[in-house]
Amino acid sequence: MYQITTLNKISPVGLANLTEQYMITDKTEAADGILVRSQDMHEMDFSDSLKAVARAGAGVNNIPLDRLAEKGVVVFNTPGANANAVKELVLCGMFLAARNVPAALTWAAALREDVSKAVEKGKSQFAGSEVLGKTLGVVGLGAIGRKVAAAANALGMKVLGYDPFFKADETPADFTVYEDLKEMLSQCDFVTLHLPANDGTKGMVNEEFIGAMKEGAILLNFSRDKLIKEDALLAALESGKVAQYVTDFPNDNMIERKNVVLLPHLGASTAEAEDNCATMAVMEIRDFFENGNIINSVNFPKVDMGPLKKGTRLAFFVKDMENPVEEMLTVLSSADIHPKKIQAGMRKDGIAYVLAEVDTVDTDALLFSGEVGAKILRHEVITK
Ligand code: MLT
Repeated sequence: MYQITTLNKISPVGLANLTEQYMITDKTEAADGILVRSQDMHEMDFSDSLKAVARAGAGVNNIPLDRLAEKGVVVFNTPGANANAVKELVLCGMFLAARNVPAALTWAAALREDVSKAVEKGKSQFAGSEVLGKTLGVVGLGAIGRKVAAAANALGMKVLGYDPFFKADETPADFTVYEDLKEMLSQCDFVTLHLPANDGTKGMVNEEFIGAMKEGAILLNFSRDKLIKEDALLAALESGKVAQYVTDFPNDNMIERKNVVLLPHLGASTAEAEDNCATMAVMEIRDFFENGNIINSVNFPKVDMGPLKKGTRLAFFVKDMENPVEEMLTVLSSADIHPKKIQAGMRKDGIAYVLAEVDTVDTDALLFSGEVGAKILRHEVITK
C-alpha cells in the first residue's frame, strides 16, 4: 500500500484515480508520495520513505528539486494540463489592458446620479485600442505560450515568438520564431511571458529587455514575478515606455499604480484545470510506483518502458557511475541477475536512474555493500 500526502487542496476528480493500492495520509513523514500545488517546500525535511512529489501545476519554484534528486526522489509537474485556463486569462488580460477595462469598471461603479449622461460624457477617457492587426510577442513557447500564440493568431494578431529551446522544425504556421529576443521585442505592441522561474530566467525582464521593447507596449506576466527586475519595470511604467503591466502576481510594489492591472494568481484557477492537473499528477506518480517509469519529471530525465505486464522491475538511483547502464549490468550480473531490458537517465550532476526488467529476483541479492553499495542511493522492486 502506498501512502500519499496532499500538501494543498487537490481536486477530488484527480484523487479518484488512486486505486486501492493507495491511501491518503496526513503523516507526511510516512508518505511515499506527495501531491502539492503551490505550498513552499523549500524549508521542509523529507523522510526516507518519500519517493515522489507531483506538482499539480506547471511552476516548480516552490520545490527543492536538487535536494530531492540527491535523495532519489523524483519530482513531476503537469505540463499543459492547465494551459488552456492560463491562455484564456492571458487573452482576458490583453483585452483588459487594451480597452482600459479595470479603470473603466472602477469609474462606472462609483457613478451615483445622472448615470447615463455621466457615462456618455466621461467614457472617452477610457477609449482603448483593438488587438486586431497588432503584434504580440510570446516569450516562451511551451504548452501555454503556443496556445496563446494560436489564439492570438485567430484574433487577427500578428504573432512573433521567442524561445531558445524551441526546435525550428516544430514551428507552426501561425507564428514566426525569432532567434534574437531584442529584435522580436522591438516589433511588439504586446509582450507575454511564458517561462519558468529559474536561475536562468530570474530578472530577465530588466533594463535591456525593456529598452528593446517598443515605446508604449503592454507587458503581460502570467508566469512568475521572479522574471521581472522590478526597479527597471517601475521606471518604465513611470516613463510610459511600458504603457501597462498586467500581472497575475501582485506584490507590495505593484499596488495602487494606475497602469498596473493586478490579478490574484488566477491563471490556472478553473475547475477544469484543477481536475486536469490533479489527474495528470496522480497518473504520473502511479506510473512511477507501478511501472518504474519517469515521465514529465523536472529533476530526472525520461525513462519509459511502458506498462509492466508481468515480471519485476528493479529501479536504482545511483551516483558516480560514468555509464550507469554498463556499470549496473556488471553489478547485477555479479549477483546473477540478468535483465531482459534496461534503461537509464542521468542528471547533469551525475545522479542517474536505472530501470531494469527481470523475470524474478531474490531481493536479498540487491543488498549491495562496499564500493558498489556507496554508489546506489536507493532501490525499489516493482513486481506484477
Ligand atoms: C502553475 O504553475 O501551474 C500556475 O501558476 C498555477 C499554480 O500555481 O497552480
